[in-house]
Amino acid sequence: MARSRCNGKLLCLCLLPCVMVSHLLVYIMVSIFVAVSYSPPLPQLPLHYIATGASKNSGSLASHPVRPFWNLRREDGALWNRLQHIWDRENNPILNSNSTLYKTTSQDLQHQQGRKSTGCEQNRAWASTVPDFNILPEQMKNFVLSMHCKDYTILVDQPNICSETPFLLMAIKSQVGNFENRQAIRETWGKRGRLQKDNGGQDWLVQTVFLLARQDMDTGPHPDLSALLKLETTTHKDILMWDFKDTFFNLTLKDVLFWDWFSKHCSHAPFVFKGDDDVFVRTKAMLDYIDQEIVEKIQRNKTKELDEFVVGDVIANAWPNRQPNTKYYIPESFYRGTYPAYPGGGGVVYSGALAMRLQRVSNWVSLFPIDDVYLGMCLHRLGVSPSHHSGFLTFDLPADMREKPCAYRNVLLVHRRTPKEMLTLWKELQVSPPECV
Ligand SMILES: *[C@@H]1O[C@H](CO)[C@@H](O)[C@H](O)[C@H]1NC(C)=O
Ligand SMILES: *[C@@H]1O[C@H](CO)[C@@H](O)[C@H](O)[C@H]1NC(C)=O
Ligand SMILES: *[C@@H]1O[C@H](CO)[C@@H](O)[C@H](O)[C@H]1NC(C)=O
Repeated sequence: MARSRCNGKLLCLCLLPCVMVSHLLVYIMVSIFVAVSYSPPLPQLPLHYIATGASKNSGSLASHPVRPFWNLRREDGALWNRLQHIWDRENNPILNSNSTLYKTTSQDLQHQQGRKSTGCEQNRAWASTVPDFNILPEQMKNFVLSMHCKDYTILVDQPNICSETPFLLMAIKSQVGNFENRQAIRETWGKRGRLQKDNGGQDWLVQTVFLLARQDMDTGPHPDLSALLKLETTTHKDILMWDFKDTFFNLTLKDVLFWDWFSKHCSHAPFVFKGDDDVFVRTKAMLDYIDQEIVEKIQRNKTKELDEFVVGDVIANAWPNRQPNTKYYIPESFYRGTYPAYPGGGGVVYSGALAMRLQRVSNWVSLFPIDDVYLGMCLHRLGVSPSHHSGFLTFDLPADMREKPCAYRNVLLVHRRTPKEMLTLWKELQVSPPECV
């Protein structure tokens, strides 16, 4: 008994300091943790706002994006993220009037100068802020050197093409040399004129333009096709051409300049199809689909939703390609983050109202070298989510199905088809394809 009491006392005497020390340790750890995790409160800034130009005239407010897909933290070194950060700040109605919250850096100044310069000559100001600029692939270098500019003059214009407002304006990206593609499209799915509805209702007027840029002796080793192009232009009056080099990384310029053109010359067209010259479209099926959407929205009294109408093969959760030798390579020094959901560039349909909003918002989103991703970025900025439609087959049908007309029954668009295949398919699909058995 006595022994155990003595042991108990001993135990207490030994344990007490231990307990006290451990409490002290816990206290120290907690205070260190609090000290480390505490940082002075940052000014409460809205992460998102509707860009000033985006909603003023359209009459409807875009829903706020849930979260930015690009990281808004300034420390992120990537060039696009940095530029967008500055633009967001400049155009933020709360911040722009009193931007003393931030110190303007020399980079910002260069950026502003870059944007305000009307000249589109290459500008090294941004290149010098990209650490690995010198080892980047040529197309990336060229993009960085010219991404401050989107004011290219139009060389071939069709200002009166929408004098009678089309229901659907088809805008097809093409290249100077692709005469055969354009002609096949004119003779098949891109045929201009009136299309009769099956139900005998009012017919649709379809108009088509081709979006071109320069591919001539000045922009690379190109044969001189100017005489042919001139003939084509006067014959068909459906070519739009701008004064910039037609390269893969300049394709975004075609969207942006087309939106500008659209806002000036065709803004009343209710719908736009934008696609490539190597796809096949079941135009009538697409018009039927659009018609259904309109009817459905009218029935639900939700015609305002047409301001957000954009449909295609939607690609979500895509990451930038980091393989330096590939066509789509985007280095980390240029862009960090995932891509917003975007409709694949082979073909996409949106409303004219949305095209107008895209035109405005593109003034607040830095150019990005991949055109469909850029569309996704602009949509994200507007708070608009693109809708997926399984009839847009930008990755084609299974190989063994391509020859069968029945396989096209639910197809609206398929990529890719040669001019010859377009003609054959068009003929085969004149009658509504049967169900596959
Ligand atoms: C900026 O802030 C100052 C005071 O902080 C205020 O007097 C001034 O009106 C603000 N400028 C604008 C354009 O709102
Ligand atoms: C885009 O076009 C401009 C003007 O022709 C040119 O300077 C630039 O190098 C082109 N950009 C790319 C990435 O090819
Ligand atoms: C449709 O909405 C408008 C305005 O919101 C309302 O005035 C009208 O009564 C609605 N019509 C139907 C059929 O619900």
